[in-house]
Amino acid sequence: MELAKTNWPAVEQYLTDSTLLILPIGSVEQHGPNGLIGTDHLVSEALARDIGKDLNVFVAPTLAYGMSHHHLAFPGSTSVSPRTLILLVNEILSGFYRNGFRRFFFINGHGGNDSSLKAAFSEFLLDHSKARTSLANWWLLPEVMEQEKAYFGGVNGYHATCGEVAVTWHLFPDRETPIPPGQAPDPHHEWPLGPERFRALYPDGRMGSDPSLSTGEKGRVLYEIAFRVIRDKVREFGSAP
Ligand code: NI
Repeated sequence: MELAKTNWPAVEQYLTDSTLLILPIGSVEQHGPNGLIGTDHLVSEALARDIGKDLNVFVAPTLAYGMSHHHLAFPGSTSVSPRTLILLVNEILSGFYRNGFRRFFFINGHGGNDSSLKAAFSEFLLDHSKARTSLANWWLLPEVMEQEKAYFGGVNGYHATCGEVAVTWHLFPDRETPIPPGQAPDPHHEWPLGPERFRALYPDGRMGSDPSLSTGEKGRVLYEIAFRVIRDKVREFGSAP
């Protein structure tokens, strides 16, 4: 159920029974030569929408922009700073809290958001004693990683991964773009990296991946695993005492 496509009396009615809200978050950043710039928010948005529909839970509008400083040397990428993201998340949650939401489940598609989200939760929870927050990073679920290992072995990579490219091809089959085989460099240098250094170390934007192995069918399987696991987590989070 999409919050953006409903009216306030319907939300007020919902809140008499549930105070749970799902919030998708991602990024706007390069995903290698054949991955979509919106990958991280498009995947979390699809998962959130499908899970919200399955469980009859409201889904907030997607926070498409994330902390992507390290990708800024690639055209089409943009970023908000950690401190902005912490403030933004805190203020968005505070608004929803004020009119009755209490449980906030984030579905995240981007690693660069993880530490800022957790910092935002720490600050928010200090001032909102009845609130609860939770977070699922879909690509880090053990069930997803196990299937990726079966499909892609050691070349799934760390950015513009075979798994995330495959999932976007499942969601947007008309965007499928083949790429010649070959693993991107994975020099395991320091982290985090500034934008220019990132591009020097990872010239086409991928980190250690070989998305020539990606297919929409593999993406479907990975997406369905993520859907099932996160749906169960959301259900448990919503009903826990
Ligand atoms: Ni990504």
